[in-house]
Amino acid sequence: MNKKIVDFLNFLNDSPTAIQASNEIIIRLEESGFKELKEEEQWSLQDGDKYYVCRDTSVVAFTLGSNNLLDTGYKIGAAHIDSPSLKIKPESIKTENSITSISVEVYGSPIISSWIDRSLGIAGRVAVKEEDNLKILRVNLKQPVAVIPNAALHLNREINKGFEYNRQTHLKAILQSKESDKNPLMEALSAELGVAIDDIFGSELFLYDFEPAELCGLDQSLIMSARLDNLGMTHSILSAILEVENPESTCIAALFDNEEIGSETRQGADSSFLENILERIAITKGYSREEYLRILSKSFLISGDMAHSYHPSYPEKYDPSYAPAMNGGPVIKWNANYNYATNLESSQRFKRLCEMAEVPCQTYIIRSDLLCGSTVGHIISSRLGIPVVDVGNPLWAMHSVRETVGVQDHINMIKVLEVYYQ
Ligand code: CO
Repeated sequence: MNKKIVDFLNFLNDSPTAIQASNEIIIRLEESGFKELKEEEQWSLQDGDKYYVCRDTSVVAFTLGSNNLLDTGYKIGAAHIDSPSLKIKPESIKTENSITSISVEVYGSPIISSWIDRSLGIAGRVAVKEEDNLKILRVNLKQPVAVIPNAALHLNREINKGFEYNRQTHLKAILQSKESDKNPLMEALSAELGVAIDDIFGSELFLYDFEPAELCGLDQSLIMSARLDNLGMTHSILSAILEVENPESTCIAALFDNEEIGSETRQGADSSFLENILERIAITKGYSREEYLRILSKSFLISGDMAHSYHPSYPEKYDPSYAPAMNGGPVIKWNANYNYATNLESSQRFKRLCEMAEVPCQTYIIRSDLLCGSTVGHIISSRLGIPVVDVGNPLWAMHSVRETVGVQDHINMIKVLEVYYQ
């Protein structure tokens, strides 16, 4: 199997939540020689060196180029690392008739029915007391530990005519079928982390689909997994920047949490995180504020988020002229109302990159009678004034707990991004 695809499947499996995805990004950056900078510390940057900065779960990585920033600006790739999911309400755990269950909150907009009757894992992070301090530890229980069962067809005869799951009452995750004196979730967390239950002070835990990412199809040309939107584009941008050695332009990968809930958080795309880093790179390299603003006007951003692939069972959902084929190449996404920030110039620049990488390129515009999605591209474009092209790979079942993409599309997108950065 292609090495990039092997790494992609591992990345998907090791990133059950954005908390773990953020850590997997950092592991790969550090293996490739990127050094951590802290927002609260003073920076000193060496030409040709590679750095990364975290704000909570969001990560911005950069490789300093040899050219004057005023000549080339920044070459930025951006994507979101979070996916719609179900977040556990820890205090809601209850045992009734020997069945222990726990309630969830819905994070973002999942296809809720896709979460039902599946083997679910639990992962996230917990706050643990260590002497007089609190320490945050990532945790993944690494086995199927929960299920949200449907009611039997016989008890819900109309289910196949469409059924609305009540988020408070129908989505309780069942954790075990026996009585226990202690909180069994806390016991499992304490055993996994090797800490006393009394030392666990709080948690942020999510359910996730336990089924691993795998190839699919008679020709093995498809990848099925949870969280392909948007770990697909996250992995493409990350893989490309890891390959860049001694670039002329300063290359940046901006990987944000919280896009699925609108990006307006401390570390989201609609925060000061990216712009602070861009300005600090310029300041540290001796540029004035005016020069920094000139650098921004020379910069470019490829915003990567998955696109809707043509689906043979729902042809009426597509404009026939803009229905990207699975494994047909990267997709440029347009929207008249600028939910996607693509314009004539930025689209031509991306098309040219595809030509240079010898990769086909497709276009997506949603049917005029449907509502268009959105991503981080237009947010960054309006905050920073940087031209943006919104692109992504074709995907089936966006926001299902199990989505499908094309193997060749993933390889091709990385090729195009490598040409962009280099
Ligand atoms: Co997305």
